[in-house]
Amino acid sequence: MLEMKPLRAIVLVLVVVVGQYASLASAAGPKVIIVGAGMSGISAGKRMAEVGITDFVILEATDRIGGRIHKTKFAGVNVEMGANWVEGVNGDEMNPIWTMANGTGGLNLRTFRSDFDNLARNTYKQEGGLYEEKLVEKIIKRTDEVEESGSKLAGTLHHSGQQDMSVMAMQRLNDHMPNGPSTPVDMVVDYYQHDFEFAEPPRVTSLQNTQPLPTFDNFGDDVYFVGDQRGFESVVYHVARQYLKTDSKSGNIVDPRLKLNTVVREINYFPSGVTVGTEDNKVYRADYVIVSASLGVLQTGLIRFKPQLPSWKIVSIYQFDMAVYTKIFLKFPKRFWPEGPGTEFFLYASERRGYYPVWQQFEKQYPGSDMLLVTVTDDESRRIEQQPDNQTMAEAVEVLRKMFPGKDVPEATEILVPRWWSNRFFKGSFSNWPIGVNRYEYDLIRAPVGRVYFTGEHTSEKYNGYVHGAYLAGIDSADILIKCAKKKMCKYNVKGKHD
Ligand SMILES: Cc1cc2nc3c(=O)[nH]c(=O)nc-3n(C[C@H](O)[C@H](O)[C@H](O)COP(=O)(O)OP(=O)(O)OC[C@H]3O[C@@H](n4cnc5c(N)ncnc54)[C@H](O)[C@@H]3O)c2cc1C
Ligand SMILES: *[C@@H]1O[C@H](CO)[C@@H](O)[C@H](O)[C@H]1NC(C)=O
Ligand SMILES: *[C@@H]1O[C@H](CO)[C@@H](O)[C@H](O)[C@H]1NC(C)=O
Repeated sequence: MLEMKPLRAIVLVLVVVVGQYASLASAAGPKVIIVGAGMSGISAGKRMAEVGITDFVILEATDRIGGRIHKTKFAGVNVEMGANWVEGVNGDEMNPIWTMANGTGGLNLRTFRSDFDNLARNTYKQEGGLYEEKLVEKIIKRTDEVEESGSKLAGTLHHSGQQDMSVMAMQRLNDHMPNGPSTPVDMVVDYYQHDFEFAEPPRVTSLQNTQPLPTFDNFGDDVYFVGDQRGFESVVYHVARQYLKTDSKSGNIVDPRLKLNTVVREINYFPSGVTVGTEDNKVYRADYVIVSASLGVLQTGLIRFKPQLPSWKIVSIYQFDMAVYTKIFLKFPKRFWPEGPGTEFFLYASERRGYYPVWQQFEKQYPGSDMLLVTVTDDESRRIEQQPDNQTMAEAVEVLRKMFPGKDVPEATEILVPRWWSNRFFKGSFSNWPIGVNRYEYDLIRAPVGRVYFTGEHTSEKYNGYVHGAYLAGIDSADILIKCAKKKMCKYNVKGKHD
């Protein structure tokens, strides 16, 4: 209630500032600069091409398209350093990424439904050996019940966000565990249920905005692992090829409007247009710019905005969270882990929460590759990014030797540690919704500032953090720009906190 007036004032400012630029698009059609060629930037370009806006350039910092969807060769096979699953399948609505990956006329990518039903049989004690299945089953069942009451509770909270609480606060309410789950086995089940999805602990994640999660509520509970040698990035190429010139032999994108190895450092915006300065001292001019760099990048000073972005915009960017999720691949001279039905995923219950917790073996996806994947997040991710890979390898092998005391566990021969957090073009893996940020404040991340538009997974109306979120956000943000450029409707209405 207290905040009503200043918030209304902010909405008004938006409307006025954006509105006065309405009538300036040139008759020949506007020129647009897209910053970033990840899923959202490529999707925004496609949407503009569909309505006849073809005078654009896409400026991409790296030497490739795809952004946080990126395959790399490891131990002789292509594995995914970034996004790996199509999340939200077999529900009421069709996930657009699933349409591309598996649908008729799509890419027919090699995918595998991930089955987590056997975790109770695959949970290892800190000092080795399995927990009794019944015990872990009971913990999982209890956690599911707590989740369910959490979703119900979330539905009763006022949408102003003033009653929002952490997922952990909800756990306390339901389970009366003062510090949340605290034994190693309770912690690893909790980690699997939350951190493995959101890359941050329940202590910092918003209950109201993650339970239930629109991704699974709308698109279905299933997740499909993409194990295709063409890479998950095929979906980005699939969208790009629908409007960017492609070499018919190599399949490479050869469109001159796509400029790789081009790092944007400065965006100047005026009532009459924008200029964009790059690290190699080039200046691009346009009527509009649409920025798809990650939330983590926006939180750094990599791109300077002139004039400075208004404080409502800066606050909305700073108060949202960029999480870190790290997929560590290890190659061994031989296999020593269990194989067969129901063994794909296994958990390590350390007294140190989040210490090499979730493991996956690939007998189905990459047969004969003798490789394991272990996932860490958040503080562990940052710690591991900052240490040499041989240290990480030693830690992971030590954990495996503890898990399998009776087995001859050899040294790993190769390791892959992606460093999304250290990389100045990403600064993390995906956004996560913090406590107390309501939908109104979230919408401000997407809201345009003058002729500067914003897109990216972090601007997705319902699906932040996901590939489908990036894809749909690209369309939505392009539509906001198109409405202004074509119909002179440049007001962007952010709903008030209490609407
Ligand atoms: C490790 C990991 C695991 C994930 N797992 C999944 C999953 O299983 N399922 C799922 O759905 N999602 C997953 N995600 C999330 C998903 O990958 C992202 O939500 C999505 O790819 C983001 O697309 P985007 O276009 O918003 O951003 P990006 O892909 O980051 O695209 C932005 C582009 O902008 C470029 N850029 C940045 N700064 C500049 C600059 N100054 N100048 C020019 N260009 C710049 C970047 O190089 C990048 O190419 C995962 C992400 C990671 C990192
Ligand atoms: C994927 O596509 C195939 C072939 O069209 C189809 O048989 C299958 O049911 C699809 N899978 C899902 C989960 O939709
Ligand atoms: C990692 O390699 C460095 C340099 O070769 C070496 O000094 C260090 O002891 C190694 N660490 C481990 C844990 O093997």
